[in-house]
Amino acid sequence: MDNVILIGFMGAGKTSIGIKLSYELRIPMEDTDKIIERLEQCKISDIFASRGEEAFRQMETNLLKKLIEDDRKRGDNKLGMVLSVGGGLPLREENRQLMKKLGKVIFLDAGPDTIYDRLKNDTTRPLLQCEDPYRRICDLMEARRQYYEDACTHRVVVDNKKYGDIVKEIVELCK
Ligand code: S3P
Repeated sequence: MDNVILIGFMGAGKTSIGIKLSYELRIPMEDTDKIIERLEQCKISDIFASRGEEAFRQMETNLLKKLIEDDRKRGDNKLGMVLSVGGGLPLREENRQLMKKLGKVIFLDAGPDTIYDRLKNDTTRPLLQCEDPYRRICDLMEARRQYYEDACTHRVVVDNKKYGDIVKEIVELCK
């Protein structure tokens, strides 16, 4: 089983869909933010505050390299996993290449209204703690869309769909 990597904007549903997908495919699920928090013993928002965004981005790249190396060591006994990645991880060209080495890359494509609706009361995303989060979502999304499209092997639109239906779509893509 190939790894399945879920990319997309904050709040696109990568974690929730990833959990259901891992259950459906009967493979484990991991999340780059959670692994980094475990390794650093620190919340993402504290990493941003104390060490800055660039240091966090480097942690993301190092982690992808480590996952590829782990897979290489396993040879033909690759485990296969669902990996959801932080919304900004695909911005680096190097990360886009690394993800394609790791497996199928699914872009969960959500519009700004969906994202705003889900994250308007969220306090855990440092990039959205600002005066006008809706504007910030639109601006970031415009700046990022091309990177998500370049990074993915498949795109799945998620607006107005139930998680269960999205999971079915992804399972079909993984066959
Ligand atoms: C970020 C997304 C977050 C997290 C960090 C930065 C981003 O992950 O990695 O706050 O730049 O879009 P989620 O996409 O899981 O929210």
